[in-house]
Amino acid sequence: MHSQTLCVHGCTDGNNVTGAVTVPVYQCATFAHPALGDTTGYDYSRQQNPTREALENQIAVLEDATDCLAFATGMAAITCLLDLLEPGDEVIASDDLYGGSVRLLNNLGKKHGLGITYLDTGNLAAVSAAITPQTRLVLAESPSNPMMHITDVRALADLLSGRDILLAADNTFLTPYFCRPLTLGADIVIHSGTKYLGGHNDALAGFLAVRSAEISEKLRLLYKTTGAILAPWESYLLIRGIKTLALRMEKAQANALEIAAWLRTKPEVTHVRYAGLLDAPGYNILRKQASGFGSMISFDVDKPERAAAVLGRLKLIHFAESLGGVETLMTYPIVQTHADVPEDIRTKLGLSDRLLRLSVGIENAADLITDIEQALT
Ligand SMILES: Cc1ncc(COP(=O)(O)O)c(C=O)c1O
Repeated sequence: MHSQTLCVHGCTDGNNVTGAVTVPVYQCATFAHPALGDTTGYDYSRQQNPTREALENQIAVLEDATDCLAFATGMAAITCLLDLLEPGDEVIASDDLYGGSVRLLNNLGKKHGLGITYLDTGNLAAVSAAITPQTRLVLAESPSNPMMHITDVRALADLLSGRDILLAADNTFLTPYFCRPLTLGADIVIHSGTKYLGGHNDALAGFLAVRSAEISEKLRLLYKTTGAILAPWESYLLIRGIKTLALRMEKAQANALEIAAWLRTKPEVTHVRYAGLLDAPGYNILRKQASGFGSMISFDVDKPERAAAVLGRLKLIHFAESLGGVETLMTYPIVQTHADVPEDIRTKLGLSDRLLRLSVGIENAADLITDIEQALT
């Protein structure tokens, strides 16, 4: 079935006796047992909750996963993923990750004895050279945040195949509507469900979707042990958001294509990064492994003063962190999302004080362009 249909019908309540066409919010912490040693399948909401379960099943269907676990935030999901590792294990991570992921790796990861190597996961020779007998996890974002680097997930999976190394792909930017990394050979897909999946800037959520039952079992044990689960109401908001995922992704992408092309014509803009531009690095790889490019753009203006001025002059677009909602947001990565990325990495990537990041929403494209135009000049 096409994912457009699965977004609408892929979420069902296995306990439905009323014919309700939406999944109810089981706002319930605990469940009564019919008898000693007997269970309805639900015991305590840290372990299972029917609303969350319906959402998890839906993401699993969309991502072609064996299992999906829903967390309170994207960071909680990534923390649980790192909990799979042992002290002394090594992680190879994309050098252009969401800043919060870098903060997690550099603080808690290192504190718990993990070795971390940052590199361009699109560069297979560099990944190959960095692998050691202790490497257990490769963590990639594609397109990456905020420099929009593309990783060939299938080629990376082939490189890692046969070794005891998990490949985790953060699919927050594209969602399963445009890309399904598990079908390309990744072992685990990460989502900040706060973004496109929820889509309305009204709920935080995170997901791990996994290919193997063995990894799922390990993660489920960590999940119920550490408890950063998604609450029933947030689960419902995510279910509701996903119903319009296809429409939102298509409209936001159409807007992004128009805005990226227009930004290129502006003399105040010196560089535009958008994966859907024909000459964007990685365009051909993305064409092979995804059905769309998403709606995240980052661009450099000619001077830092202009970046600050643009943020102050926006009228329609919000100057705010986060991405993937119906509202267009502009972010200043160097002081917001990526403030914790070490300076040497920022410099190497070109993540400068002239860089602005745009999460394009579903408004009218001309209205968005009018707003950016008046803010730029
Ligand atoms: C690509 C990516 N992954 C993970 C996260 C973390 O998600 P959350 O904010 O839901 O914890 C973010 C947040 O911006 C993100 O952009």
